[in-house]
Amino acid sequence: MATLIIDGNSYEVADGTKLTVAIENQGIDILHRCGGNAKCTTCKVTFNAGEPDAMNEGEKAKLEEKGDLGEYRLSCQCLCVGTMDVNVLMTMTSTGLDDAGPALS
Ligand code: FES
Repeated sequence: MATLIIDGNSYEVADGTKLTVAIENQGIDILHRCGGNAKCTTCKVTFNAGEPDAMNEGEKAKLEEKGDLGEYRLSCQCLCVGTMDVNVLMTMTSTGLDDAGPALS
């Protein structure tokens, strides 16, 4: 099991769960407007601890395209492992959007 920490609350999640899914499963209305395809960046998170060292090509390309490499990570491209303490940056609540996005692929 992995440990996910959000706003000081701790959750146990299955190893390898897509981070966006794990966040959403805790009742947090994180955006995922492209359905988890590394296209929209609305699933962005920052890490207080446990940021994955690895970054896949899709995530790296999108962050480089936006000039945001090193600023945040795409939770749809990260898998839960170990202990991850994250800050969720864009939610339905914080943006006023009424749709988080299509189901995560
Ligand atoms: S980049 Fe769109 S959901 Fe992650």
